[in-house]
Amino acid sequence: MSLLPQALRYIRYRFRSGNAHGLHSPFVFSLYLDVVCHTGEYGAFEAIESRRAALLADERRLRITDYGAGSQTGAGRERPVRDIARHAAKPPRLAQLLFRLVNYRQPRTVLELGTSLGLTTAYLAAASSKARVLTFEGCPETAAVARETLAQLGLQNVELIEGNFDETLPATLAQLQQPLDFAFFDGNHRYEPTLRYLEQCLPYATEESVFVFDDIHWSGEMDRAWEAIKAHPAVTVTVDLFFIGLVFFRKNAPKQHFTLRIEERGLGV
Ligand SMILES: C[S@@+](CC[C@H](N)C(=O)[O-])C[C@H]1O[C@@H](n2cnc3c(N)ncnc32)[C@H](O)[C@@H]1O
Repeated sequence: MSLLPQALRYIRYRFRSGNAHGLHSPFVFSLYLDVVCHTGEYGAFEAIESRRAALLADERRLRITDYGAGSQTGAGRERPVRDIARHAAKPPRLAQLLFRLVNYRQPRTVLELGTSLGLTTAYLAAASSKARVLTFEGCPETAAVARETLAQLGLQNVELIEGNFDETLPATLAQLQQPLDFAFFDGNHRYEPTLRYLEQCLPYATEESVFVFDDIHWSGEMDRAWEAIKAHPAVTVTVDLFFIGLVFFRKNAPKQHFTLRIEERGLGV
């Protein structure tokens, strides 16, 4: 797949995106300042980043079982761990944004579709020790390395569910005892499965839930999926940060879509 359309989509986003200036929704204003633009360091970051550094130097080769849309780097059936750490894991600034979002919202149940090596899982779990984190991975050899990550970091609030999302997601949701407060969709980036996973999760969401979709402009198909998510009748507020999209279901809020810039430093005002 050509990288050009994605580059053009990024240029389009840069033109459309704004910052805190003129943000009239108090809810989105405070989310933007406290979560998106916040640049503070938390104690948990150092240990997770040193695990990332170790994975980036890890030469072990994994046999990949791919149930998803694969990678745009053309990776084959066997991949070194360092390659997966470089291309599949969310970079620190986005994983740390998700950490702040969990910390800010204090969800009881967090779901992550696509564990990979467990780096973003670690951020989600470290953000709130009270949250129960359910993370899903289809590739057994990748899941084994994620288990090492979670054990090394001493994170005990995570359950890793192995298998194809198509089977494991509905089965796990059917046994949920609590509402689904937070979901991060980071695997199988295609139109149909993305919308199907949204529909499957929606009955467990409340108006306090937040769903995060990764790579919303990764391909033309994901661009279309993002438009369909925004148009969904259950969705009220969305925030497009290009690399990820935040989705809210607040009942009394008017339907509104924001495109905001992730500022490198400060508040961007
Ligand atoms: C982009 S990676 C996840 C990255 C991870 N969230 C992070 O930031 O470190 C996507 C993962 O989803 C898994 N995956 C994709 N489609 C799947 C499916 N249908 N069932 C199970 N796993 C799947 C892949 O094996 C891959 O490890």
